[in-house]
Amino acid sequence: MFVSIILLWLCVWFIVLQLKSRRPKNFPPGPPALPVLGNLLNLSLENPLKDFERLRKKYGDVYSLFLGPKPMVILNGQSAIKEALVTKGIDFAGRPDDLFVNDVTQRRGVILADFGPSWRDHRRFALTTMRNFGLGKNSMADRIHGELQYTVDALEKNIGKSVSPGILFYNMASNIICQVLFGTRFEYEDEFIKVIVRCFRENAKITNGPWAMLYDSFPLIRNLPLPFVKAFENVKVTMAFGRALVSEHKNTKVPGDPRDLVDCYLDELDKRAGEDSILSEEELVSVSLDLHFAGTDTTSNTLLTGFLYLMAFPHIQERCQQEIDEVLGGKHPVTFEDRHNMPYMQAMIHEVQRIANTVPLSVFHSTTKDTELMGYSIPRGTLIIPNLGSALKEEGQWKFPDEFNPENFLNDKGRVCQTRGLPAFLCRSSDVSGRGSGSYGAFPHLGDSAEEVQVCLASGRRRARLDSGLRGHPVSQTLLHECPAQGDTVRRSYNPVSIILATSH
Ligand SMILES: *[C@@H]1O[C@H](CO)[C@@H](O)[C@H](O)[C@H]1NC(C)=O
Repeated sequence: MFVSIILLWLCVWFIVLQLKSRRPKNFPPGPPALPVLGNLLNLSLENPLKDFERLRKKYGDVYSLFLGPKPMVILNGQSAIKEALVTKGIDFAGRPDDLFVNDVTQRRGVILADFGPSWRDHRRFALTTMRNFGLGKNSMADRIHGELQYTVDALEKNIGKSVSPGILFYNMASNIICQVLFGTRFEYEDEFIKVIVRCFRENAKITNGPWAMLYDSFPLIRNLPLPFVKAFENVKVTMAFGRALVSEHKNTKVPGDPRDLVDCYLDELDKRAGEDSILSEEELVSVSLDLHFAGTDTTSNTLLTGFLYLMAFPHIQERCQQEIDEVLGGKHPVTFEDRHNMPYMQAMIHEVQRIANTVPLSVFHSTTKDTELMGYSIPRGTLIIPNLGSALKEEGQWKFPDEFNPENFLNDKGRVCQTRGLPAFLCRSSDVSGRGSGSYGAFPHLGDSAEEVQVCLASGRRRARLDSGLRGHPVSQTLLHECPAQGDTVRRSYNPVSIILATSH
């Protein structure tokens, strides 16, 4: 009896020891972790961003937490993030492969693919194709202008009324990338696009929400019918739509004369037929959905933020419009090249990207080998979370870290300071996603629409909120404090279109 008790006790003790989360030698510091739970209690499930900032004050720019039993390293501030993602880009270029997002996307596509031959191959393919279809050339601008006309029409129908721009911008961004991917745009009422947009928005929300964090922390609950199941269903729906588009392309395409990215991929598949290739039709569906989502979500959230802030800070909107009047003087259409003469607009767009903080924790990385960072040792395969938000508002790096102020990107001579460009640490040593098109797209979007449209907060809509898919998003908080109620719309001198946008839902 006594022996059994001792044995049992030893067993329990052994199990607890096994479960206890221990930091490897010279690992970044962090709060003590509980068995099984890890540091779950130190993070708010609703919005861990604040906790990340709080822990930074206590443990420094590089610290660690346990996600259930798994150690992860949080990077804060420009210097730590730059050292990891730029200086040691390759060491930190991996992607974790056992998280919610991986299961949802079935480990396919480009955004979440681990650093390796498949990612490299697909990235090269996507970049070349995007370039051929005019990313960075004027034909892309043509697509944007064309689509923008539909948006302006939709807005014009609502003159004097309030509209919710969320879905509108999402559709617009989606259509622009759809033309590159599938060679077509969809009417805003189209069932296809309505369903896809709904699935994208829901999944962005679920991925940033508490259930995804619980899923990541407790492998045991992954098969239970909990709210995250919805995300898997949504992916099934979008994959089915994607497959339908791909097979339609297969039936109608002319070999050697590609209309869009899907055609290019199919051509490439034919070329490699018989070879042992990573390209496949299922991959194509995932890759195009990935690019579609990345190009849609980032662009529309950036635009939403931009419009919201321009409404809330009418003096900045006015200065932009002044510059537009002086430089463009009614010239149509605005081209990407015009930006060189419009430092204030450019700075405003950078500033919107900074404030929007659309992907506050980046896409999670992981280490591809044992490496070091700021004097700490980090073993291979460690989950890395770059807290980009911490760099975008870092004290000492910006003239006005907590304000929406284009001056953050202007030097004394009123020119845009390139050294403060955001992209350097927004990417893994060389990311491919819609981000390129996101920032590229923003210029003609905001340029053109600001030329025609003056946006104002509808009166009585003081409590504007931005539905960005991420709870606790800084925009909504800022507006609650700073946003003056703006009831009046002012007509622009030429192109007299004025519209009231209400951003509440
Ligand atoms: C982390 O959570 C534990 C358990 O709730 C608590 O005792 C500890 O003070 C927390 N530490 C920090 C830094 O928040």
